[in-house]
Amino acid sequence: MTDNEAHYLREVQYRFPDRLEARAVLHRRYGRDDWFAWLAEEIAFTPGSVVADVGCGAGALWRSAPRTVPDDLVLRLIDTSPGMVTAAEAAARAAAGRWRDVEAVVGDAVALPLANGGVDTALAIHMLYHLADPAAGLAELARVTRPGGTVAVVLNRSGTMAELSGLVERALGRPSARPAPLSSEDGMALMQEQFGEVEVRRYDDTLRVTDPVDLLGYLTSLPEAETPGAVARLAAAVDAAFGTTDAFIITKTSDLLLARR
Ligand SMILES: C[S@@+](CC[C@H](N)C(=O)[O-])C[C@H]1O[C@@H](n2cnc3c(N)ncnc32)[C@H](O)[C@@H]1O
Repeated sequence: MTDNEAHYLREVQYRFPDRLEARAVLHRRYGRDDWFAWLAEEIAFTPGSVVADVGCGAGALWRSAPRTVPDDLVLRLIDTSPGMVTAAEAAARAAAGRWRDVEAVVGDAVALPLANGGVDTALAIHMLYHLADPAAGLAELARVTRPGGTVAVVLNRSGTMAELSGLVERALGRPSARPAPLSSEDGMALMQEQFGEVEVRRYDDTLRVTDPVDLLGYLTSLPEAETPGAVARLAAAVDAAFGTTDAFIITKTSDLLLARR
């Protein structure tokens, strides 16, 4: 990743939670709507443990974790975007004083502001694909996790939401200039190199989007929408798609990759 791309992620795409939220709406409204509950159950946090959430975004997990997640967790929330860090801290604190201790700080996944072996569980949820060197990010997650602790990474399987990328490509009349994001298949290979054994938990969903406004909201939150004329073309493509159907179907698979340090 170039400095420009890192700058774009921090200062534009993830400056505030709004674009991430425009995408989250689609998943919540039209899919299973149990993502964070599922994730928290699968990770199975230990009572009293220290959890680092790297690339925490707006901290959605800590606002809406199911009651089965122990209340006495110590949370270290880290993101390169100051706007996200502020939102994540507010989200964790809005959970009615539930967490034992919350600290939210600006930091980079490849140089975490955490001591060696200081956390029991290190999370990187839908973020490793933003790193120029994802293996360096995994090595850093390993560094901050205590021996016997857990590293949990979430990535999408290749081809996830292909219906959406197809729509964008047709609308703009060209393939995306962005390289394909790191897939869970690729992430799995990197994790095996770093940790040896890795467990996979698969999460499938089908979104049946019935409101064109929500679909357009998702599309205009993407980097592809920033080129001149792109929004009008995307709007026309959404109109055309809903001209022939009353539900736009999107399929997705995310994998939770779990390793022991
Ligand atoms: C797709 S969002 C995921 C947010 C959150 N984990 C979730 O699942 O809702 C990716 C997040 O990673 C952050 N990010 C990108 N590059 C990063 C880096 N090098 N170090 C830390 N965070 C980073 C972004 O600012 C953004 O908040």
